[in-house]
Order: sequence, then structure tokens, then C-alpha cells
Amino acid sequence: MSPVNISFRPLKHTDLLLLHKWLNMAHIQGTYYPEGLVSEKEVKEKFGKRIDGIDTEKVKPFIILYNQKIIGYIQTWKLSDSPKYQKLLDLSFDASGIDLFIGEKEYLGKGLGSEIIKKFIKEIIVKLFNLPRCIAGPDEGNTPSVKSFEKAGFSHIKTVYNPYQDFNEHIMMIEVQN
Ligand SMILES: CC(C)(COP(=O)(O)OP(=O)(O)OC[C@H]1O[C@@H](n2cnc3c(N)ncnc32)[C@H](O)[C@@H]1OP(=O)(O)O)[C@@H](O)C(=O)NCCC(=O)NCCS
Repeated sequence: MSPVNISFRPLKHTDLLLLHKWLNMAHIQGTYYPEGLVSEKEVKEKFGKRIDGIDTEKVKPFIILYNQKIIGYIQTWKLSDSPKYQKLLDLSFDASGIDLFIGEKEYLGKGLGSEIIKKFIKEIIVKLFNLPRCIAGPDEGNTPSVKSFEKAGFSHIKTVYNPYQDFNEHIMMIEVQN
């Protein structure tokens, strides 16, 4: 699969039913969304606010496409816009952050993860945030995710227990060329 075929566009209200389906799938429940099953109403409220730019943490939500086909979800944010999380991580610097998942199962395990991360930083994050560092915090047991961030150039900086999601976050960081 070629990285040139990966693209991004902002999440829209019309994507929310698909997002609801993805978030309730087993491979997302056990990883990206460990909070448990989520209702259509909750998805519309939480992600609708992000689309409209009125959520308190100012998360920027995007759809991942491969060859113009919708395959997953990716978001970025600024650490200092999430004071609770910033306190938990106890880092002395501000940074952008990334969370992602591939919802369409036939696109999993094909080496796309690291290419999506690299391209998203280059095409989206550097334009949104003028910050020299980007972080991610996968569950330390989530090997595909940890490996994808490593392959995209991230290094482990610390491990932090996240009491809200009840797992150890493997905090990883990359220096971003602005
Ligand atoms: C995380 C994710 C984006 C990675 O993308 P991907 O394209 O599937 O990842 P890759 O195919 O590049 O695999 C990454 C590595 O993990 C390895 N891997 C894949 N599945 C594995 C498994 N079950 N156990 C151990 N290693 C595994 C691959 O072999 C690869 O290693 P390699 O680079 O040494 O060959 C994708 O798997 C996903 O969306 N997962 C569900 C949601 C999620 O976990 N999101 C991240 C939350 S932080």
C-alpha cells in the first residue's frame, strides 16, 4: 500500500453514524476507545462539538482516506488545552498530540499506521500548531500502535498510569520540523 494514496479531510456531521459504528467495533473498543460501548447520541454530542469547534479541549478531528475511500479517524490537539491531561503527564513543555484508528478492518496490519502518522504531521499538524514537539500515548500493551509511532520516528519518554482509562500510557514524542 502506497503512502501517496493517503489523504485527510476534516470530520463532518454526516460522518458521525460511521464513527459511531467504528467506535463500537471490537478492535477499537479494546484499544482506541476503552471506555465501553457508546451511543449514537454520545458520539453526536462529543464529536459534533469538535466539528463545530466548541469543545473545551479544542480537538481537531479528521477522516483518513486511502485512494479516496474513508478508512479511519485521526485527531490532533494541544497539550496545554487539556490541563487535566497536562498535569497527569507532568511534562515541562507544550506539544501537539495525535490519536488515531483505522476503522475499516481490511486496511489494518498492512503497514499504513506509520505512514498515516508521518503524513498527518507533515500536512496537518505543522500547519495548525507552531510547536516543536508532538506526543502520543498508546496503551503500553498496544504493540501495533507503539510500533507504528516508533516507525514514524517517535521515541518513548515516560510511562504514565492513566486512571481515567485504567492503563499505562507509553508516552512517545517526536521533534517536529515547522
Ligand atoms: C494502531 C494502528 C493505527 C496501526 O496501524 P496498522 O497499519 O494496523 O499497523 P502496521 O500494520 O504498520 O503494524 C505495526 C506493527 O505492529 C505489528 N503488529 C500488528 N498486529 C500485531 C499484533 N496483534 N501483535 C503484535 N504485533 C502486531 C506489525 O507486525 C507491525 O510491526 P513491524 O513494523 O515490526 O512489522 C491500527 O492497528 C489501529 O487502528 N488499531 C486499532 C486502534 C488503535 O489501537 N489505535 C491507536 C490508539 S493509540
